[in-house]
Amino acid sequence: MSWDRACCARRLGKRKVIAETGAGQHGFATATMAARFGFDCKIYMGAVDVARQRPNVFWMENLGAEVIAVQDGQKTLKDAINECMRDWVTNMEDTHYILGTACGPHPFPEMVSWFQSIIGLEAREQMLTQTGRLPDRVYACVGGGSNAMGIFQGFFDDDVELIGVEAGGLGVGTYMHGARLAYDDASVGVAQGYKTYFLQNDDGNMNETHSVAAGLDYIGINPIFSHLWEQGKVRFEAATDEEVKETLKLTMRTEGLIPALESTHAFVTALKEAPTMAKDEIILINQSGRGDKDIFTIADALDDAKWKSFVEGKSDQYRAERG
Ligand SMILES: Cc1ncc(COP(=O)(O)O)c(C=O)c1O
Repeated sequence: MSWDRACCARRLGKRKVIAETGAGQHGFATATMAARFGFDCKIYMGAVDVARQRPNVFWMENLGAEVIAVQDGQKTLKDAINECMRDWVTNMEDTHYILGTACGPHPFPEMVSWFQSIIGLEAREQMLTQTGRLPDRVYACVGGGSNAMGIFQGFFDDDVELIGVEAGGLGVGTYMHGARLAYDDASVGVAQGYKTYFLQNDDGNMNETHSVAAGLDYIGINPIFSHLWEQGKVRFEAATDEEVKETLKLTMRTEGLIPALESTHAFVTALKEAPTMAKDEIILINQSGRGDKDIFTIADALDDAKWKSFVEGKSDQYRAERG
């Protein structure tokens, strides 16, 4: 998607690109593209996410991007988007905003969804080649909604059940989650240039959100998804932090897969529901990213003693080198 967005920026005659990022994946992709196309690049990222997604920050900076740690609000994705929008409206003349998810003002939700549709079209083709038929259910995690919109678009016209999995965080009733539709805690509002279901209070101020996965820790959701949910075309569920950690261990040990913490949400619900399905039914799970970026969070969650001693050793080594 970054390559397409680079072409947009070049065609618009802009030499500077800015982007927000939560988990760092979109920032990483934008920084890679900017290096290749010779654009100045600024990435806005909440300070909390800078700390928990350090591997991606390292790569972005070494690719030549300036990573700005946003200190406002909860210091996560919502705050990074706010800051990026402030930059954009001030510097629109020479700056192109590469919004990373299918949210924000028109045409971003539609444009990002369209770029991502390649995932669904390819998945549909591969499914037909490999199994001779379409899947019965497709699962994808939902932060802003870009990877889920991407894969679901391959199956909108088919008799396939589509399930979006949001961040259940600390669980239903805690208000420390990112489940806009699954927990029914959100209401319709307008923020960040678009209308959708937001996690907000009665005065329209945004609530706190929480997820172990930086990319799902967000207040709003793609407005096209809100519409599809109201029509009953996409079902929304949520996976809690605890379920995500347990499922990640399972996918590593039994499938040899290390999905990103975001993607693991989709695995939680798929694995929970699989026993209720017939043996010959087919499930498709979208693995939106790899877990490499989450090594610090995962090692902490798994209380990995060897990793801790490695990090402590490194830190002692740096201290000794600095005297
Ligand atoms: C690996 C991964 N999956 C999913 C997401 C969630 O975003 P979206 O819902 O737009 O796909 C992110 C966001 O940073 C991510 O890094």
